[in-house]
Amino acid sequence: MLEIERVLLSEKEIADRVRELGNQITEDYQHLAVKIGDAPNILAIGVLKGVVPFYADLCRAIALPLAFDFISVSSYGQATSSSGTVRILKDLDVPLEEYHVLMIEDIIDTGLTLTYLKENILRRNPLSFKIATLLDKPDRREVPITADYNGFVISDFFVVGYGLDCMECCRNLPYIAAVRTI
Ligand code: PRP
Repeated sequence: MLEIERVLLSEKEIADRVRELGNQITEDYQHLAVKIGDAPNILAIGVLKGVVPFYADLCRAIALPLAFDFISVSSYGQATSSSGTVRILKDLDVPLEEYHVLMIEDIIDTGLTLTYLKENILRRNPLSFKIATLLDKPDRREVPITADYNGFVISDFFVVGYGLDCMECCRNLPYIAAVRTI
């Protein structure tokens, strides 16, 4: 059973930071974007499932036309996060040659998932590629990868909420909390 130790990031702190990230991304991509009404050339790729709340809020904070797509991956091997081997459970619906790709994640931990995804996506020749993550746990990194847009750097707490789960629990909490098992 889980016990919430403390709220790490409140609903307001998350909303404020997501708005800042959205403004920054809007500014950076403004020169690339098509006009509203034209087919978007920026593709926001969400890595399911933990990203869903952040994806929905961040995309609405970006004041540019975006196309949506999602990818679902599963780590497997010796352990869920240490094998470096990733299996695609649901692939993207579209080819990437005509898109600037913004890959959106909820958390970078060991970095293995994003390292795999980055290589995989780059092989599909997008016009450009950037990463936005809500959380970054640099202390846990096993491979060197950084995000272009980073919401919060956190210490190595076990965190749940705002999409993040522990065995599917707590994804729909509106805040992010550090938890411990009891
Ligand atoms: C989490 C998170 C990243 C990955 C990061 O996904 O959404 O995709 O782990 O870990 P890494 O940097 O160590 O590779 P998870 O496998 O928990 O799936 P979920 O998003 O469906 O909860």
